[in-house]
Amino acid sequence: MDATRLDDTVALVTGANGDIGSAVATLLEARGATVVRSDIRPPKGAAADDFVTLDVTSEASWAEAVALVEQRHGALDILVNNAGIAPMARLDAMSLEDWRRCQQVNVEGMFLGLKVACDLLARSGPRRPGGASVVNLCSGASDKPSAFSAAYCTSKAAARMLTRVAAVEFATLGKPIRVNSVHPGVVESAMMDDILATFSRIAGGTPVETLRQGVAAGNPMGRFVEPAEVAEAVAFLASSASRYVHGDAIHVDGGYAAS
Ligand SMILES: NC(=O)c1ccc[n+]([C@@H]2O[C@H](COP(=O)([O-])OP(=O)(O)OC[C@H]3O[C@@H](n4cnc5c(N)ncnc54)[C@H](O)[C@@H]3O)[C@@H](O)[C@H]2O)c1
Repeated sequence: MDATRLDDTVALVTGANGDIGSAVATLLEARGATVVRSDIRPPKGAAADDFVTLDVTSEASWAEAVALVEQRHGALDILVNNAGIAPMARLDAMSLEDWRRCQQVNVEGMFLGLKVACDLLARSGPRRPGGASVVNLCSGASDKPSAFSAAYCTSKAAARMLTRVAAVEFATLGKPIRVNSVHPGVVESAMMDDILATFSRIAGGTPVETLRQGVAAGNPMGRFVEPAEVAEAVAFLASSASRYVHGDAIHVDGGYAAS
């Protein structure tokens, strides 16, 4: 049997309207999973059949979404905590409100997902070798600082630690749930377009295209990451092919973290 296949599994993906979330949902489906897409609001145009509105900062919203997944599909084998925001500002100009919102979405959202979904994940775990799988979207920013990103870098460093704590704690309690993180580098995405535009504004008007070229040139493999490449790492961690990988991190960044 091909352990990378996801047949007969049920996955919930947060932030699925975004560039990475939609690539992840599409690949998990292609590998055989039943995927429930979620986001803070329905996508523009027709929502997928299996869409649920989920604001990751709300415990009640998580409870409703997880209950709905169980009602519709009877199990939850894979949770992808992908929803995230990246407000950029100089430290001395960032509002406390923006700082808090970033921690709420990127860290508390992940905490609430782990907290609320862990019972259904644990009950679903015995269905597969390695058990249920949670994949948290962290970032190169979990380890490396960058200017004007205090809130984001701090939140992603916390998300990495939360991943490790959850892994150790679930193992201590004997819960059949693995927890790992994926750390993309600079992804071809609307989020990165916004980051570069804001960086250009704050840092004195360097043209966005010049910034893009500089970022790509500074990467060991010389280019941005494709969302589909991030999705491949998520699908591996979601699958039984990674059944003994727990509390770990995969960087998808062309060697940036190593450099
Ligand atoms: N784009 C990059 O270069 C990059 C690099 C490293 C890590 N990441 C991480 O990958 C993840 C996805 O990023 P992306 O590039 O697809 O961004 P994106 O902005 O395209 O997608 C993020 C999604 O999260 C949703 N979201 C925001 N707040 C939410 C909330 N409270 N509840 C539920 N959903 C909410 C948004 O509606 C959006 O659809 C994020 O966690 C991001 O930090 C992105």
